[in-house]
Amino acid sequence: MKEDIERVLITEEEIRERLDHLAKEITEDSADRQLTVVGILNGSCLFLGDLLRRIPLPLTVDCISVASYHGGTSSSGHVTFRQTQLPEVNGRDVLLVDDILDTGRTIQAVRQALTGAGARSVKSCVLVRKAVKRVDTVGADYVGFDIGSEFVVGYGLDYMGHYRNLPFIGVLHPDAVQRWIQGA
Ligand code: IMP
Ligand code: MG
Repeated sequence: MKEDIERVLITEEEIRERLDHLAKEITEDSADRQLTVVGILNGSCLFLGDLLRRIPLPLTVDCISVASYHGGTSSSGHVTFRQTQLPEVNGRDVLLVDDILDTGRTIQAVRQALTGAGARSVKSCVLVRKAVKRVDTVGADYVGFDIGSEFVVGYGLDYMGHYRNLPFIGVLHPDAVQRWIQGA
């Protein structure tokens, strides 16, 4: 699996260090409220666990499963909710956690759905923010790392469902992309 990575962009050590700071910031900002954390699956799976164990506040956790990519390396343009039931967020202060902010459609769609379900406030936290043009003015309140526009995998991020379990974030080798396209 590691041989498919052209270069490591963010090391395991860098992720650990950044998470310490990010969690501290969230903890300080949220000290006077009871957070409802909503993780967006599947991409946030590793990030969510590592982030939450660093936030020593009373909170609850729910996950929702959405997809905006359907196999390739560019956004499909619409967000599909894989489950119809949203978590209970009426009157709650929500912290949305996702792996990456790309076009912003996912965060925007989920934020709208949760606001529609009565959330008192919705903040968002992403591990990685891509330097791309985003829909409207969608942003994230907490950002782990800013990167370029390259397609990355690892630490929850996937290509064709693979590479999520890499402990670092890296750029896929073009040969590996070709191999997946050819069905190897
Ligand atoms: P957005 O809705 O365009 O912001 O895209 C967000 C979703 O697209 C993320 O939750 C990821 O699942 C996926 N995504 C965007 N860029 C990448 C990438 O570089 N690697 C892997 N997944 C990505
Ligand atoms: Mg995802």
